[in-house]
Amino acid sequence: MSFPLIRNRRLRTSQAMRNLVREHAVTLYDLIYPIFVTHGTGVKEEIASMPGVYHFSIDQLEAEIREVTALGIQAILLFGVPETKDSEGSSAYDPNGIVQEATRRIKQWAPDLLVVADTCLCQFTDHGHCGVVHFNEAKKRADVLNDASLELLVKTAVSQAEAGADVIAPSNMMDGFVYAIRQGLDEAGFEHVPIMSYSVKYASAFYGPFREAAHSAPQFGDRKTYQMDPANAREAVREADADVAEGADMLMVKPAMAYMDIMRMLRDRYDLPIVAYNVSAEYSMVKAAGLQGWIDEKAIVMETMVGFKRAGADMIITYFAKDIAAWLKG
Ligand code: PBG
Repeated sequence: MSFPLIRNRRLRTSQAMRNLVREHAVTLYDLIYPIFVTHGTGVKEEIASMPGVYHFSIDQLEAEIREVTALGIQAILLFGVPETKDSEGSSAYDPNGIVQEATRRIKQWAPDLLVVADTCLCQFTDHGHCGVVHFNEAKKRADVLNDASLELLVKTAVSQAEAGADVIAPSNMMDGFVYAIRQGLDEAGFEHVPIMSYSVKYASAFYGPFREAAHSAPQFGDRKTYQMDPANAREAVREADADVAEGADMLMVKPAMAYMDIMRMLRDRYDLPIVAYNVSAEYSMVKAAGLQGWIDEKAIVMETMVGFKRAGADMIITYFAKDIAAWLKG
């Protein structure tokens, strides 16, 4: 036998051959598109740090929803920017709140489009934290209370389900949130509504542009007492174990690009669907370089997405979803 003994290049000789042996692919059905809905009327405003992503008031939303469904995208993740904020985030669980109202309208326009509701309080609280804040006099610091926050989170989830949300996606990283929400949904008759848990959510600088978009930056302190330390991987297993035990239907890893090892770990460990959240700064960085002409944006985006699939993700939340859908069609 001649040298080299092993010729891996045989399976790369033509596009057809490469297609035949391809292990992973990104499809339209993998995509979830985040949409920001804001109060007021006549608002369609581009988010400065996220070119191509907009705030929509509800009256401007229909055209966007039509575009999304025409592209074949079958799921959106809804974020609300409310008119009023208070210490308890009451606009998050107001039956006529921005997310609830938007959900009802979207369900009229596009009944088959899956509405995933982000369930959190940070856009709705005046302090910008994801739960109830208590000032600890002794320690001279603000604590985010776990169990008191759960009650508000449950109310939020139930009101979102009542408005027609198809999936509840709790993102606030309080302990026990999956169990509390599951119970709340079941008691309210929404036992069929799945929970997509932000199981492994790191305290990440990659959320910067989102916080500008959602007006949800904490007014003091940071989220490090509830979101995870980027240096930890074993802790991700503990977080996911808890969510699985509490009845989560899908497990999310967030952010995505710097955390593909975590995705792979969860994929190998659990049989539940794994969700990758390709977050705001991951979008902004690629978009900025693309707009400068420094990179081939389409190629970079598709390579990143197939990387998530290879790492074990079943679905991807991404601000590139509309672009990807158009590319897959074209
Ligand atoms: C709400 C929430 C955040 C994101 C999704 N849900 C912000 C945060 O936790 O600070 C970030 C999404 C993104 O950056 O695209 N808690």
